[in-house]
Amino acid sequence: MISVRVDPPSTSPYDVYVGRHAANMVNRSIGEEVRKVFVVSQSNIPQIELSLDAEVQTVLVPDGEDAKSLEVVGDLLGRMSSFGLGRGDLVVAIGGGVVSDLGGFVASIYLRGIRYQTVSTTLLGQIDAAIGGKTGVNLPTGKNLVGSFWHPSAVYCDTDLLDSLSEREFKSGLGEMVKYEFLGASGLSLEELDESIARCAALKAEFVREDEREDGRRALLNYGHTFGHALESLGIAGRIERITHGEAVAKGIRFAAHLAHAMGRISDVELEEHYRALLKFSLDVSIPREVTIQDVMPFISRDKKNRGSITFVLAQSNHEPSVVRDVSVGELETALNAVHRYL
Ligand SMILES: NC(=O)c1ccc[n+]([C@@H]2O[C@H](COP(=O)([O-])OP(=O)(O)OC[C@H]3O[C@@H](n4cnc5c(N)ncnc54)[C@H](O)[C@@H]3O)[C@@H](O)[C@H]2O)c1
Repeated sequence: MISVRVDPPSTSPYDVYVGRHAANMVNRSIGEEVRKVFVVSQSNIPQIELSLDAEVQTVLVPDGEDAKSLEVVGDLLGRMSSFGLGRGDLVVAIGGGVVSDLGGFVASIYLRGIRYQTVSTTLLGQIDAAIGGKTGVNLPTGKNLVGSFWHPSAVYCDTDLLDSLSEREFKSGLGEMVKYEFLGASGLSLEELDESIARCAALKAEFVREDEREDGRRALLNYGHTFGHALESLGIAGRIERITHGEAVAKGIRFAAHLAHAMGRISDVELEEHYRALLKFSLDVSIPREVTIQDVMPFISRDKKNRGSITFVLAQSNHEPSVVRDVSVGELETALNAVHRYL
C-alpha cells in the first residue's frame, strides 16, 4: 500500500492510500467516537463490505451528473438527519468523482460540517477528484457552481475496484492523468499503475498545500480544461456527440499544445512530446471538424479562470505551464486550424 500525505493549510493533514484492497482500511480507521456511518454510493459501483463497529445506513444516488443536484443534496440531508447522524459521526462516499463531490458537499454543510472519508472507485477520482477538498454540485446553469472547500479525513484509492470500470471510464481517467505529465510527473505508465496513481495524488497534494483555494498555482491543474470544458459542454448541449470529462481534457490538451506552439511558447519537438504523451495511452484526441471557435467561445468566455479576458493554461519551454491572459480569438483560430492540419 502506498500512502500520500495531503497537508492543506486550513485543516489537519490526511492520507491518501493507494493499492489493492485499500477499501478494507475503512474498517480500521473510522475512529472510536463514531456511532453512525452514512454511506453515499451508486448502484453500479461494487458494493464494499464495511464491517464497522457502528450503525451504517447506505443511500444510493442516481448515476451520472444528475446526482450532483441541490435536489439530491436536500434528500441526503433529510436522510442524514432522520438517521440521527451527529457531529462526531462520519459520511463515507464510495464512488467516482460524482459521489465524492456530492458526499463531500453534504458532509461540509450538515451540522455546519462533519467528517467524511472517500473510497474512490474511478481512475479519475483516484488521481484527482477525491483529493484536495473541492466539493460541490451543479446548477441548471452550469457545472460545479455550488460548493465548498472541505477536506476528507482519509481517501482510499482501491485499485482492485478499477477492474469493473468500463474501458471508456478508465480511459477518461487516463485523459486526466496526461495533464500531470506536463506538471512534473512525466513517465506515468499503465504497467506501474498504483505508483502512477500515487505520483499524481502526490502532485495534486503539493498544489493543494501551496494554493488550497486556487488563487494561484493550483489553477495549473486545469491544463487542457478550457477548450476541453467547452467541448464537454457542447456535448451536454447536444451539439456534438457527448464525451466524458477525461476525454474532453485529452482533446483540450491537444488544443492547448497547438495554441502554445502557435504563440511561440513551445518548439516543434515539445508539440510532438504532447502527442507522444497523449498517444501513449491510446487516447482519442480527435476534435470534430464541424466545431468552430465561435461555437466554443461562449463556454471559453465563462471559464472561471477568466478575469475579463480569454485565459488558458499554456505550456512554456523550460518552465512549467502558466496561466496566460488576453489570448485573442485570432490565436484560437490559428490553433484550431493547426490542429486540423497536423498529421
Ligand atoms: N472535486 C474535484 O477536485 C474534481 C476534480 C475532477 C473532477 N471532478 C468531478 O468528478 C466527476 C467525474 O468523476 P468520474 O469521472 O469519476 O465520473 P463518475 O463518478 O460519474 O463515474 C463514472 C461512471 O463509472 C461508474 N463507476 C464508478 N466506479 C465504478 C467501478 N469501480 N466499477 C464500475 N463502475 C463504476 C459510475 O457509477 C459512473 O457511471 C465530475 O462531476 C467532475 O466535475 C471533481
